[in-house]
Amino acid sequence: MKVKKAVFPVAGLGIRFLPVTKAQPKEMLPLVDKPMIQYAVEEAIAAGIFEFVMVTGRDKRAIEDHFDHSFELEEMLKAKGKTDLLAEVEKISAKGDFIYIRQKKPLGLGHAVLCAKPIVCNEPFAVFLPDEIVQGPSPEIGHLLKIFEEKQCSVIALMKSPREELSRYGIIKPKGDIASGVFEIEDLVEKPSPQEAPSDLAIDGRYILTPEIFACLEQSEAGAGGELQLTDGIRKLLQKQKVYGCVLQGNRLDAGEKLGFLQANITLALEREDLKEDLKKFLKELKI
Ligand code: UTP
Repeated sequence: MKVKKAVFPVAGLGIRFLPVTKAQPKEMLPLVDKPMIQYAVEEAIAAGIFEFVMVTGRDKRAIEDHFDHSFELEEMLKAKGKTDLLAEVEKISAKGDFIYIRQKKPLGLGHAVLCAKPIVCNEPFAVFLPDEIVQGPSPEIGHLLKIFEEKQCSVIALMKSPREELSRYGIIKPKGDIASGVFEIEDLVEKPSPQEAPSDLAIDGRYILTPEIFACLEQSEAGAGGELQLTDGIRKLLQKQKVYGCVLQGNRLDAGEKLGFLQANITLALEREDLKEDLKKFLKELKI
């Protein structure tokens, strides 16, 4: 079985970013000059996935427009001879097929993934949480795909996290030796207190899932606020199939909360040839 589709749950309310998310999607907030969702789509393309399933909601039309052709803009850039910008804009809609499906109410990440069932059907698929970005030499999802090809089981990206941050993420309990960085998962807990966390390995917003996850999500009960968690579905999946974890090396940028968003912008800007020297100068001059 080969992974051909990537699911992007983008129907959340983005409450932590209010008021900026009142009328625009969090996933369209810029990291330097690209919306965060574009980084995730480019990661999928770099790993050879070209079918993108966006699970959207109300007020998310900007995402659809972003990945479409913008005829007037492209003609205007052509007329003005702005060829670099034209290439940049054309590139966004050039590759792959975008399929949109609505999550009618934001009933949690697990529910959002379940909304992709009519499109994904009976295939394994990738899931990207677009507000988490890992900087590394190769696309993060590529590592998971290699493990999936070998094991033909679900695989979850993990990252070692400081104790005080564990309550922000899903944390896994590994089975056996974790030294190789790829191992079976025994259990998972959503946002545990540091004392209750079964390890310091946090789920990192990238998954390869087998289609059996849909039945598991359907059988899972909604928790607080009527939200269905993806971790609850994966816990059910563990009763039927093996699920592997893969510890990734790299720098995690959690752009889904304000401080992480600011850090992500600075980190990514410092990698840009056109910005890094001036930004470094500015940061050094700050009297803090
Ligand atoms: P988050 O947990 O960051 O939630 O979702 P959120 O709604 O975006 O932000 P807050 O917590 O209200 O500040 C991670 C990803 O899952 C999607 C979000 O759009 C985001 O891309 N999601 C979340 C859904 O698609 N549907 C949901 O019901 C919840």
